[in-house]
This record gives sequence, C-alpha cells and structure tokens, in this order.
Amino acid sequence: MNNPVMTASGTFGSGQEFSEYVDLGRLGAVVTKGVANHPWEGNPTPRVAEVYGGMLNAVGLQNPGIDLFCRRDIPFLSQFDTRIMVNVCGHTEEEYCEVVERLAEEPVDLLEINISCPNVREGGIAFGTDPAAVETITRAVKRYARQPVIMKLSPNVTSIADMARAAEAGGADGISLINTITGMKIDVNKRKFVLANKTGGMSGPAIKPVAVRMVYQAAHAVRIPVVGMGGIMTGEDAAEFMLAGATAVSVGTANFTDPAATVRILSELEDYMRRTGTEDVNELIGAVTE
Ligand SMILES: Cc1cc2nc3c(=O)[nH]c(=O)nc-3n(C[C@H](O)[C@H](O)[C@H](O)COP(=O)(O)O)c2cc1C
Repeated sequence: MNNPVMTASGTFGSGQEFSEYVDLGRLGAVVTKGVANHPWEGNPTPRVAEVYGGMLNAVGLQNPGIDLFCRRDIPFLSQFDTRIMVNVCGHTEEEYCEVVERLAEEPVDLLEINISCPNVREGGIAFGTDPAAVETITRAVKRYARQPVIMKLSPNVTSIADMARAAEAGGADGISLINTITGMKIDVNKRKFVLANKTGGMSGPAIKPVAVRMVYQAAHAVRIPVVGMGGIMTGEDAAEFMLAGATAVSVGTANFTDPAATVRILSELEDYMRRTGTEDVNELIGAVTE
C-alpha cells in the first residue's frame, strides 16, 4: 500500500459516490461494503440513528451480490492507483467460501472476512464470538483464497487476544478490528426503539478508547499485521492506533460527517510525522509499550 489510510467497510460503498470528494488514488486501500454470494435486502428501516459521539446502524449487510459486484464495482475501482480490499459476508461457511472462490480470479488485492457483524442473526457474529469457530472459518476461507486474508474481529467478546490468536492459528494473514459494539436507543417520547432491529452497532469517536485498547491487546497476542479502526476522526487518532500496534487504519463513521475525511486524515498524519520528526510511518507501529 502507498500509505496506511484505508476506508472502513460499509461506510464508503465501493467508492463511487465518494469519488466526487476524494481522489481514491490517494488512499492506501478502498475497503468495500460487505458482499455475499447472493443479493441481500438488509434489515427494515429505520436502520441508522445518531447518538452521542457516533451512530448506531443495523443495515444488516444489504448488498448487490457477488455477480453485480464483480461486473460493476471491481472495474470501477480498478481505474484508480489504490489497493482493493473486498469485505466478504455470508450466513454459512459455504457462502463465505463461495464468494472467496469467485474473487480468486478478480483483480482484487486483499480480502477482509467479516465474522463480526452484530446485525445479522446467522453468520456474521455467530462465527466471530467463539475462538474455535473463528479458527475453523479462517481455515476454510484460506483454502479458497488467492489473496491475503484479513479476518475482521468483533469487539463483543471477553478476550480479544483469544480471538486474534484463533484467527492466526487458522492461517489468517492479518486481522482487523474493531467492528461495531452492540447498542440500543429508545425514543422516550414515542416509547419505541429507534431502530426497527431494536439493537444496532455503535461506531464513531465514542468507541475509540475501546478500539485502541483492543488493537493493543490483539497486536501483542499475534505476529500477523493488525488493521485498526473505531472512531478515527483525525490524523492524530490514526497515529494513536498505529502506536498501539496497528500496521494500517480504516476510517468509517467520519466519512458521514466529512466525505473527504480519509484524505484529510492522511495529510494530518503526515503533519504529525513532520512535527514529531518521524521519517517512516512504519516507525509508529507498536511504538508505545509502556
Ligand atoms: C453504516 C455502517 C455499515 C457498516 N457495514 C459494514 C460491513 O458491511 N462490513 C464490515 O465488516 N463492517 C461494517 N461496518 C463497520 C465498520 O467497517 C467499522 O468496523 C466500524 O464502524 C468502526 O469504525 P468507525 O468508528 O470509524 O466507523 C459498518 C459500519 C457502519 C457505520
């Protein structure tokens, strides 16, 4: 990658809408919205809500399916001098593997396997909260993958280090974290849940301290690279994740308030490096240990 700043899955589409605001060629990688073997409709609306310091979403992995994705989104992204990381979702091991197998012949650089979505009942988080299941699905996906496999871990667990080690044991080439933290919002005047799904995934700056802690713990539990995310709004936030042990970072919710957040964060990270006399961005990785 040209630099460590990427988009976070589900907050940037496949880059089409954002290409009006951002030169996609400046990003380390574009990480796409999760894609499954068939189109998914997602959850009923309302499925997003603002909360203090971030948002809740229960989109439910709405996606066009792998056929349309390969015809439409990959050719679009291939025009830019950036890496393409495709986020993969499924209900069963077979569904994940089918998508990964389809992507083997496509001009895609990296795969991110979402085993941590809190908003779908089967698949998603069902795999991501049990270390044995994490190891099994990682091993299964690796059998079909031609590209490096990054397993996306859930924060809704007691020991993130155990999950990280399970992904590494299954053969993952990297891990990414955190996905959203399960939350809820109630409209006290209507006395109703704000989201049709009742619960949703919390993201944005309010979750950043949790994410930094988990990235630190995961990075110290494994030898494979870690992609850090969760509430990154500024270049200093990105530096914080790298100092905790991340090799690269993803920017998610910030895109909703500032569509150019990714490139702004990249230039702020460069400012931070100049200010602190950091010559190579890799010097930041895991530099804080005590
Ligand atoms: C609206 C929305 C949709 C998301 N969709 C996906 C998805 O399809 N796959 C996935 O792995 N993560 C998905 N995520 C999680 C983000 O990629 C990211 O892990 C999380 O939001 C934390 O980062 P942030 O605080 O910078 O947003 C989604 C998040 C949001 C807010």
